[in-house]
Amino acid sequence: MVEKMTGLKRTHYCGEITVEDVGKEVVVMGWAQRQRDLGQLIFIDLRDRTGIVQLAFDDGTDREIFDKAFEVRSEWVLAAKGVVRLRSSINYELKTGKVEVFVTELKVLARAQTPPFEILENSNVKEENRLAFRYLDLRRPDMQRAIMARHRIVKVARDYFDSQGFLEIETPMLIGSTPEGARDYIVPSRVHKGKFYALPQSPQLYKQLLMLSGFDRYMQVARCFRDEDLRADRQPEFTQIDLEMSFVDREDVMGICEGFVKKVFDEVLGVDVALPISRMSYSEAMERFGSDKPDLRFGMELVNLSGILENCEFRVFSSAVKNGGSVRGFNAKGAAEKLTRKEIDKLTAWVKDYGAMGLAFTRLTPDGETSSYEKFLSAEEIERVRKAFHAETGDVLLIVASEDNQVVFDSLGALRCEVAERLGIVPKDEYKFVWIVDFPLFEFDKEENRFVAKHHPFTSPRDEDVEFLLTQPEKVKAKAYDLVLNGNEVGGGSIRINDPQLQSLMFEALGFTPEEAKRQFGFLLEAFKYGAPPHGGMAFGLDRLVMLMLGKDSIRDVIAFPKVQNASELMTRCPGPVSQKQLDELGIRIVEE
Ligand code: AMO
Repeated sequence: MVEKMTGLKRTHYCGEITVEDVGKEVVVMGWAQRQRDLGQLIFIDLRDRTGIVQLAFDDGTDREIFDKAFEVRSEWVLAAKGVVRLRSSINYELKTGKVEVFVTELKVLARAQTPPFEILENSNVKEENRLAFRYLDLRRPDMQRAIMARHRIVKVARDYFDSQGFLEIETPMLIGSTPEGARDYIVPSRVHKGKFYALPQSPQLYKQLLMLSGFDRYMQVARCFRDEDLRADRQPEFTQIDLEMSFVDREDVMGICEGFVKKVFDEVLGVDVALPISRMSYSEAMERFGSDKPDLRFGMELVNLSGILENCEFRVFSSAVKNGGSVRGFNAKGAAEKLTRKEIDKLTAWVKDYGAMGLAFTRLTPDGETSSYEKFLSAEEIERVRKAFHAETGDVLLIVASEDNQVVFDSLGALRCEVAERLGIVPKDEYKFVWIVDFPLFEFDKEENRFVAKHHPFTSPRDEDVEFLLTQPEKVKAKAYDLVLNGNEVGGGSIRINDPQLQSLMFEALGFTPEEAKRQFGFLLEAFKYGAPPHGGMAFGLDRLVMLMLGKDSIRDVIAFPKVQNASELMTRCPGPVSQKQLDELGIRIVEE
């Protein structure tokens, strides 16, 4: 028997009833967290998004209501009217733990099957299960808080950018495919058979055109789509706080973004972010941390040993240096006890995923020293290496050598973070921001055997580097900046090219023929002939920002309906097949593999 709400109007949220309300008549609505039947006494914990309040039924309760309360099971939906009174025994775990509602009217608005898992704070239910029943998972208080905090963060963003003169302008979801960056999600056209839209990887081109149209300052809470391999911090569809500004230089954009970071941390977390946020060049970040998104919450910086080891007898080291690579490492300070031989073997296997051929080590335990490479070095070389590491008893020295510097940086950069996690030396309540600047404009794509844009092809080179665009592209630095928080890239942007001639040069440097450039970006090159103001912008990864602010390990925990590793959604089971009729209309035939 399910009843109507008729006659009952909610007066309070469950979690908001306080001792101030004692004696008042209230109406609350929500889900039964649990029902406790103590014979003459029944308690129901009623839950809504604000928290839990206890409903009480005793021998003073009308018999019919008491019997109804007796029937109630977990997750039934109830409306209750009653009088707030002090509880006989206080529950200090609950915000409302001093009070209860003595019920005078009870309606069962919906019954519920026994849920597949209990609706509990910080549940340890397997994620697949949680995601298959996401609507139940979202009832859990920690999920509710995360989704509500996400709303606050977006609200602060909208208010902040509005106060700075930004206009929120929507850009289209069905756009033309542009072959840069990640793989596109494409959408077939029924009207134009054999033709396709792409879903935007970001509103990049449109926001630049809005500058050209004179809107001066744009922002959008924008959904973006990228068909790329998923990780804990990546989703196929994700949200950016996207912005663009006219008549600005790098400092203006970075200043506006810093203002947002300060405000959102203050308003949502009460955390003060000291401004200005420090800056580090891309090359310094790579040298010191092996990463362009360094985690500055702990030390263990990289040391370049190439100078010491380039002529050593150990071929692995010396030939790496002679062939254009390097030998680098870091000192896992005081880690000898935790990093046993066995642990180091595991790390050696782990680091191979990053292309390293091996991991050389020295363990300086108090009761002896073991090393995988020192036997190949002279006493002087050993001494110099140890000195470079500031090595002491108790330390573990970890070294990677490769002819490819990128492999050395990637593997040590990742290893540094992994070791810090395993040693438990990463402070979890610190927020360490850093801007990474002076990125290279291009990176070499080994698969395609050509230079590709490190950010995107509309990023402006530094003025002093323009002359090297075609002759020495590897030398050219970009007017680009990334904002890094605790080892995660939370945002990135750049000053754009606003000169159509320079843009054409850029396409040439990227290996586009003038015809290809015209075919793919013709509208943009054309548009820029009509007066493009100097402009630049930035996009924050909203999901990542929320994840880090709330101390979560995965962006799936701050997205209401996320996708899993293989890009499917476990609840609605998409992607799924479509009908033959739909395929016929689109002129699509599925080829079985
Ligand atoms: P970029 O590609 O660096 O820049 O993206 C900006 C920010 O978006 C976040 N991000 C993601 N978050 C979750 N899942 C993903 N798959 C994902 N990919 C990126 C990151 C990143 O820093 N148009 C440019 C911005 C500009 O130049 O103004 C852009 O999209 O936090």
